[in-house]
Amino acid sequence: MSFQKEINRRRTFGIISHPDAGKTTLTEKLLLFGGAIQEAGAVKSNKIKKGATSDFMEIERQRGISVATSVLAFEYNGIKINILDTPGHKDFAEDTYRTLTAVDSVIVVIDVAKGVEEQTEKLVEVCRMRNIPMQIFINKMDREGKDAFELLDEIEQKLHLKVCPLSFPIGMGYEFKGIYNIWEKNINLFSGDSRKNIEDTIKIDDLSDNKLDGLIGEKAAKELREEVELVEGIYPQFDRESYLNGDLQPVFFGSALNNFGVRELLDCFIEIAPKPRPKQSEERIVKPDENDFSGFVFKIHANMDPNHRNRLAFIKIVSGTFKRNAPYLHVRHNKKVKFSSPNAFFAEKKEIVDISYPGDIVGLQDTGTFKIGDTLTEGEVLNYKGIPSFSPEHFRYINNADPLKSKQLYKGIDQLMDEGVAQLFTLELNGRKVIGTVGALQFEVIQYRLEHEYGAKCSYENLNVYKACWVEPTDRKNSEYKEFLQVKQRYLAKDKQNQLVFLADSQFSLQMTQQKYPSIKFHFISEYK
Ligand code: G4P
Repeated sequence: MSFQKEINRRRTFGIISHPDAGKTTLTEKLLLFGGAIQEAGAVKSNKIKKGATSDFMEIERQRGISVATSVLAFEYNGIKINILDTPGHKDFAEDTYRTLTAVDSVIVVIDVAKGVEEQTEKLVEVCRMRNIPMQIFINKMDREGKDAFELLDEIEQKLHLKVCPLSFPIGMGYEFKGIYNIWEKNINLFSGDSRKNIEDTIKIDDLSDNKLDGLIGEKAAKELREEVELVEGIYPQFDRESYLNGDLQPVFFGSALNNFGVRELLDCFIEIAPKPRPKQSEERIVKPDENDFSGFVFKIHANMDPNHRNRLAFIKIVSGTFKRNAPYLHVRHNKKVKFSSPNAFFAEKKEIVDISYPGDIVGLQDTGTFKIGDTLTEGEVLNYKGIPSFSPEHFRYINNADPLKSKQLYKGIDQLMDEGVAQLFTLELNGRKVIGTVGALQFEVIQYRLEHEYGAKCSYENLNVYKACWVEPTDRKNSEYKEFLQVKQRYLAKDKQNQLVFLADSQFSLQMTQQKYPSIKFHFISEYK
């Protein structure tokens, strides 16, 4: 197959949702369609189980699972599909944000009863900022939930999206009769049997056809006709360009658990979802069909086995082909590196591959040379943009609890930060180290992993910080900036990239500081340039 054809047949995407909306179930049904797994239950949920004995032991368990579910690849109708796993737990939101830099589109799963939930709002906002094409799947139609129009309204209001229903439910809960597929113009009747054949759809070119009354009953048929007319009146027609630009979001209804409406979603997905897209680097836009290989690290996974401290760095291929044993430039280190056993991912296993194409993810064995955001190329100096750090929510001093192991401690902290577990800030005043995390759970994870993987011990001390803001002066030489540096010295720190950060202790003090020093910009995202 030609290089161009290999690119054209790839779809790399992520499924995002609030925990419990049905992401794992949907993923599993998609894999079943691709014949990648044989039975339900094969995909392990990556969420933190409720009522687990200890949250952080649960995280360790989950870390084991998430290696296996990091990338799930399968073939469907000649299309190579790569699903990138996104943790649903809010404490791991940063992982998800980073994964979103490696997808070409997303599917958003929404629970019909719960509607738009908090995590969905946050994740969709990130996708919207990046103009990532989104498809929406409204799940659990076999249960009582919100009225379809009400829900579509809620999605538009809360998620600031413009929706375009491509299917419409006929009833819901006990009254759920099936789905009218606006995209394919057919009806799929619901029997509650997940093994039902996909050929069971009934072609309905014209909703005024009497056949409809016979199929779902006169009352439901009348309602459906009215509703579809309303849909066509209210919502814009599907337009692929608008979808690809992130301006229009097609919506499907279904029940993942019952494998209902999933085939429709998948068939439409492979038709409309984007193939690998060009990516902006600091230097230029890079197109997938360029001859030279380039890619970037969006995730690093530490080995679970303490005897093998190797890590797996996940690279998204942006352009060219990645070949085993070929020398590539590690741009940040300005050094050539070779990989003798790059991994490709399939539904349940990983295998060594000789060649991978744009859109694919390869896993590279890493002994600590990579950090998130690193770029690999065939020789050109490129730096891919787009893996920002957000201001952490929780801050603590980290202290060395075993002075004989300080070397191990610093190495451990360094590597965990490269993995993106948390952010490290070094205070300007006294060089003390502060760890910032998205969720409180990460402190336990860091302590546990420092001890078990690096043989180092740490303790924490509370620190009152409201937000970390990256400081951007308009003029480094003006007196206002100089005064700020002096007056606020106690609150200033450097991040790992040596960027200056202001650790505001309250919202009030941040506001006061902003007012007092209007020529300085305070950013909540590290990548503000
Ligand atoms: P997540 O990955 O988004 O967190 O959600 P997951 O797929 O694990 O689904 C959460 C719960 O919702 C599961 O039930 C799952 O069986 C159920 N579910 C998913 N899709 C549907 C659907 O279409 N209809 C109905 N009625 N339920 C659905 P659970 O009891 O929490 O877990 P389990 O014990 O069934 O695994």
